[in-house]
Amino acid sequence: MKALVQNQARIFEVGPRDGLQNESVILPIETKVSLIEKLADAGLRDIEIGSFVHPKWVPQMANTGEVAKTIKRKEGVSYWALVPNDKGLERAIDSGVEHIAVFMSSSETHNRKNINRSVNESLKELEKVIDKAVSQGCVVRAYISTVFGCPYEGEIDFNRVMEIADALLSFGSSQISLGDTIGIGTPLQVKENCARITERFGSADAFAMHLHDTHGLALTNAFAAFLEGFRNFDSSVGGLGGCPYAPGAPGNLRTEDLLKLLDSVNIETHVDRPQADEIAKWLESSVGFDLSTRLSFQ
Ligand code: HMG
Ligand code: MG
Repeated sequence: MKALVQNQARIFEVGPRDGLQNESVILPIETKVSLIEKLADAGLRDIEIGSFVHPKWVPQMANTGEVAKTIKRKEGVSYWALVPNDKGLERAIDSGVEHIAVFMSSSETHNRKNINRSVNESLKELEKVIDKAVSQGCVVRAYISTVFGCPYEGEIDFNRVMEIADALLSFGSSQISLGDTIGIGTPLQVKENCARITERFGSADAFAMHLHDTHGLALTNAFAAFLEGFRNFDSSVGGLGGCPYAPGAPGNLRTEDLLKLLDSVNIETHVDRPQADEIAKWLESSVGFDLSTRLSFQ
């Protein structure tokens, strides 16, 4: 095993976006604002507050503009929004958002179903969106979905994932978040592909791991990525983000579990664990089900 030389990790909290976009209940603006402010108070420095996608596609996110305008911003915290295209970017900028997350898939079928574009069309579109965002003073990160497998196409060629990452970085994205969209990555697969990233890009510094917990492997896969030098992880408070038709079904990697794991290997995150636990507890009455962790080690 390699020596653990980097003793800090950065958590990108996706609960208010990736979590809530999948819940059947649509939270009111004031609850979302409280959630985001509590997350910032707990020490999270990157919070994805919502998305500017078509409101008919994802009604849970239709109030993101109001949320962005209402939150009290805390110094040192970046408030991100997910944007699919130029229209989304305009809406984000009009709402005062300066941290933009764009997204596309490495699978043709998933990309078509999610954003109605081919992979090449998305690359062309995102080149323009990223360029415009950066020229207007925004910071951009980019998600690549289905990197460890696609619900429609099955296996994904990881060379293609790396080519897409290369392109998105060259367009001006400051970070690439690798999405295990349906949570089917396995620890060895994740470790091997993370090693390919560090080999090709020199380090994992420009990469984040975005894991869904569909099959209960998100935390193990996070550790597999960690062992290959990954220090940026996306996660969701309470593990929000399960299927809208199955309340309580596993969603994103749970922020509290990730904090526990990182604490156990002496990695600093500057996030207050008890506060993160309290936020999950507080949120239960809004989403209507239990959000407590299944991990019992301390
Ligand atoms: P489209 O139908 O191809 O859009 O949808 P279009 O460009 O043809 O435009 C059609 C109409 O939509 C036009 O209105 C546009 O103005 C309007 P009309 O002229 O007919 O009145 N429109 C918009 N309205 C509001 N906001 C916009 C916008 N864009 C166009 N941004 C589109 C394309 C991308 C809009 C649609 O497919 C969409 O909204 N998809 C969103 C899907 C989504 O949110 N998925 C979940 C997020 S991705 C994810 O969760 C994965 C991730 O977590 C990583 C991982 O886990 O792997 C990030
Ligand atoms: Mg996701």
